[in-house]
Amino acid sequence: MNVYEAVTSRRAVRGFTDRHVPREVLERVLCAAAWSPSGSNMQPWHAYVLTGGPLAELKKRAGERVAAGDPWDEREYEMYPPALKSPYRERRSAFGEQRYGALGISREDWEARQRAAAANWECFGAPAALFCYIDRGMGAAQWADVGMYLQTVMLLLRAEGLHSCPQMAWSVYRRTVAEILSPPDGLVLFCGLSIGFEDATVDCARTGRAPLDETVTFVDGC
Ligand SMILES: Cc1cc2nc3c(=O)[nH]c(=O)nc-3n(C[C@H](O)[C@H](O)[C@H](O)COP(=O)(O)O)c2cc1C
Repeated sequence: MNVYEAVTSRRAVRGFTDRHVPREVLERVLCAAAWSPSGSNMQPWHAYVLTGGPLAELKKRAGERVAAGDPWDEREYEMYPPALKSPYRERRSAFGEQRYGALGISREDWEARQRAAAANWECFGAPAALFCYIDRGMGAAQWADVGMYLQTVMLLLRAEGLHSCPQMAWSVYRRTVAEILSPPDGLVLFCGLSIGFEDATVDCARTGRAPLDETVTFVDGC
């Protein structure tokens, strides 16, 4: 698989089979992903990888919180700016329509949307998950470094025939994640990343992208 194929075949997959993901594959991917760039080579990420019993326990505890209607943990970072302006507001709402529309859920049916979103905390059935932390003292540039690291992980997973889904949703149950992982106090959970083999029977709408001239400006010299 070349890089273009890895990039274009990566999607947020929201249905995985229970097929085991070998530890050596995950180690190979994470060894290579360590070569991601970062400002001053600080490598400001810390990843925890969960499989088997510990992941099952995490899903169980998170599921209990969902079932009990337990409120989310207080935020350590804002997932989105409070007032999104155009064109981001429209893009976000188009995504919501597409994601929930594919499941036959209308815009107004908030409960059904919540039920569908609850699959986040089952890792969409994935047998492996990575939880990506960043030191609390880091700034915007280092958060960008962490994004590059995660994208590198996701592309390498494609090269191994695996799929993934990055999930900020895990940050709202960060205390439950911490019960299982016991991270040092100084780390903030950015997101989870479900990892596994795609369940092709689960309907998964392909997202689109803005036309190039909306997000790229060429300033040509001729
Ligand atoms: C940092 C980050 C956090 C995300 N969090 C979630 C999430 O909590 N749950 C989810 O289902 N998808 C999540 N996604 C997936 C996005 O919805 C998805 O990447 C976007 O809609 C583009 O679709 P594609 O990845 O399939 O191309 C997240 C993506 C990123 C990059």
